[in-house]
Amino acid sequence: MKKNPIGIFDSGVGGLTVFKEIRKRFPYEDIVYFGDTARVPYGPKSKNTVIEYSIQNARFLMQCGAKIIVIACNTSSAIALEELKKIFPVPVIGVIEPGAISAVENSKNGRIGIIGTEGTIRSKAYSKSISKLNTNTEVFSEACPLFVPLAEEGWEEHRVTRITIEEYLKTLLQKNIDTLVLGCTHYPILKKTIQQVIGSNIKLIDSAEAVTEQLDEILPAKETSIIGEDHFYVSDNEDKFKQIASRILNRKIEKLIKVNLGESWYLS
Ligand code: DGL
Repeated sequence: MKKNPIGIFDSGVGGLTVFKEIRKRFPYEDIVYFGDTARVPYGPKSKNTVIEYSIQNARFLMQCGAKIIVIACNTSSAIALEELKKIFPVPVIGVIEPGAISAVENSKNGRIGIIGTEGTIRSKAYSKSISKLNTNTEVFSEACPLFVPLAEEGWEEHRVTRITIEEYLKTLLQKNIDTLVLGCTHYPILKKTIQQVIGSNIKLIDSAEAVTEQLDEILPAKETSIIGEDHFYVSDNEDKFKQIASRILNRKIEKLIKVNLGESWYLS
C-alpha cells in the first residue's frame, strides 16, 4: 500500500454499505476493509465480547497502517467506540453519532424511530446520542434481528421480508414518528421495502451515508486523479462474502484475503 488507508471494520459483509458510501465520497483514498465473518453476528453477543472483538479488529487495521478507523458496525459503534478511542492513536469514528445528527436534523416533529440489532437497541446508544443533541425529541426503538439474515439471503423485496418488516415495525408505526434510523449495516439493503411499508411520509436515515459527512470533516480534501486502492480482508467464508459483496457493491471483489484469528495477526 502506497499511502496510509482509511480502515473500516464490520462484523461481516454488511459494513460494505458503509464502504460503498466512503468509496464514493473519497475516490482517491486507499481503503482497507475487514469483515469478521468468522464471528458474525455481533448483534446478540455480550458487551464484553463485542468490545474484545472490536479491539482485535481495530488492531488489525492499525497493522495495515490505517490513519483513521471507521467502525461500520452499529453494534460495535454502540458498545465499543469509547473503548477504541481510548486505545488507538488515530481518530476512531462510529456510525451512531452521524446517524443521530442526521435524524435530529431531518425530524420535524421530534419523534424518531430507531431500528437495529438487539445489542444496539439494548445499549440505548442512539437514544442517548439523540437526546444529547436535542432534548425535545422522543425516541422509539425496536430490535429487528431477522432483517440481517433476510438481507444476506438476497431477499430484498421478497414477500417474507415485507411481512417481517410489517410485523417488527407495527408498534413503531403507531408512535407518529416522522424519521426512522436504519441503525444496522444490513438495513440499507432492505431500504426500498422498508420505505414501502412505512410510507413516504417517514424519512429513512441511512447511517452509512451519515458517517461520510463526519469523515469529510476529518480528512482533508485532495485534488488528485489517482484512484485509491481497495483491500478486503475477512476472517472466514470468503465465497459467501464475495457473493453478497457483489450484490451490495454491484461489482465483483477480485482479491479477498483471509486472515486467521490468532494472536499473530493482531499483535504488534
Ligand atoms: N454489523 C451489525 C450491525 O450493524 C449487524 C450484523 C451483526 O449482528 O453482526 O449492528
